[in-house]
Amino acid sequence: MDATTMAPESTSPLPQLSVGDTLRFVRDVGGPLVARGLIIRRPRVVRALEVAGADRRAVAFMARMRDRYGDGPIQVAIPGRSVALVVSPDHVHEILDSTPHPFHPATTEKRSALDHFQPEGVLATRGPERDARRRLNEDVLEQDRPRHGLAERFDQVVDEEARWIAAQATGAGVLDWDTFERGWERVVRRVVLGDAARDDMEVADLVTRLRKDANWAFAKPVRRGQRRRFHKVLGRYLERAEPGSLAAVLAEHSQDGHIEEPAQQFPQWLFAFDPAGMATYRALALLAVHPRERQVALAEAEADDDHPLLRAAVLESLRLWPTTPGILRELTTEHRWAAGTAPEGTTVMIFTPLFHRHPSLPDADTYSPRRWLDHRSAVDWPLVPFSGGPAMCPGRNVVLTTTSAMLLALHRRLDLTLTEPGRLDPERLPSTLDPYTLEFTAAGRSSERVTASLELEATP
Ligand code: HEM
Repeated sequence: MDATTMAPESTSPLPQLSVGDTLRFVRDVGGPLVARGLIIRRPRVVRALEVAGADRRAVAFMARMRDRYGDGPIQVAIPGRSVALVVSPDHVHEILDSTPHPFHPATTEKRSALDHFQPEGVLATRGPERDARRRLNEDVLEQDRPRHGLAERFDQVVDEEARWIAAQATGAGVLDWDTFERGWERVVRRVVLGDAARDDMEVADLVTRLRKDANWAFAKPVRRGQRRRFHKVLGRYLERAEPGSLAAVLAEHSQDGHIEEPAQQFPQWLFAFDPAGMATYRALALLAVHPRERQVALAEAEADDDHPLLRAAVLESLRLWPTTPGILRELTTEHRWAAGTAPEGTTVMIFTPLFHRHPSLPDADTYSPRRWLDHRSAVDWPLVPFSGGPAMCPGRNVVLTTTSAMLLALHRRLDLTLTEPGRLDPERLPSTLDPYTLEFTAAGRSSERVTASLELEATP
């Protein structure tokens, strides 16, 4: 515990960024965050941000603000809104642990974005329904089980789609994002909705179109007809409840009718699985430039269904390049800290790269997967790719199971080398990494040969 939690609370307003610092905040942090797309990424912007080293600049700016204004939170003067930036690790823990009251996850900004495609999703829900929807998500996704009850089926689905990706990549001699993403999206639809959805391009198009609208939040009107159509199609998959899919588990847990519109939990799952693909693809790149780590992780995964080091590779990918860089909360009541008091309705923002890449974090800019094997890592210092506390991502174990299975299944079939290794200097990994232009030269390998060679490599 540091001085921030022990100091007495103050009734004066929080320290506020000067006009100059507010403009710098917009240029270095807020602007890039919004420009890259809050709900669905804009690939060209992500590319430009990598070239500009955008997140390094953002982290340096936020660290400077803590030096200048203290432990905060620090108020930003945005017309019509009260916004406060979190700069102290203790405040991150306090805020995430004190969710949903007084720090509610369904902020005004989030609700207006999610209204485009999932107004009844748990993340957008305020009021008494939130508890029941949260419980439903926890139960269906089995949030506390490292391996979901359907994990074996998920492994099989991943393996089948990895075979398709590997065949394409071997034929072309290259693994690129488009090929990977096509295979990954099929995994997602099969795991969430069932095999019948594997090639359902209507669902794919609707989710993409409505997410693009969601990037504009309240600046764009909701396309109610398309949203209705989307929910209707999802409702059919819920009725179908294909065995082996999350749809079947959702149907089972919602059959007594205590949850209104249970199919409206699907959009979050479909949408959130997309960044899981990005994290996997970036993890492939990390493993490509750390061949020794790759050998050890793959050998271990062949022997242990939990794949601890491959899961850690995905977690490192998410630490280095968080797919949710801004965790938001809205104050349900006035709140006091030592630095000052924030009024009810204040949006509190945790900019996760500040903590994930903080200069005082050991090995902040290098690949260090073993930090995730020590469960204290995210307890003492906020490494929060899946958030934390009562609103923590209930899908994290499903994500880590499917993503680590994809890493294993691809490496069983492919030798992968980054075509531009200079983009990932292992001594100082880039602060922003555009997955869309990352490519690997790909050569096929037989799974038998790989398994045998991995066993040999693992022998001390
Ligand atoms: C790389 C992949 C993913 C990451 C990094 C991630 C991360 C997060 C984060 C940071 C939150 C916000 C929690 C907060 O506001 O404190 C969240 C919420 C949520 N995630 Fe994930 N997520 C991922 C994938 C998934 C998947 C695949 C599912 C479902 C299958 C899922 C289900 C949810 C749900 C239902 C919520 C809302 C929780 C609530 O409001 O209580 N997530 N996730």
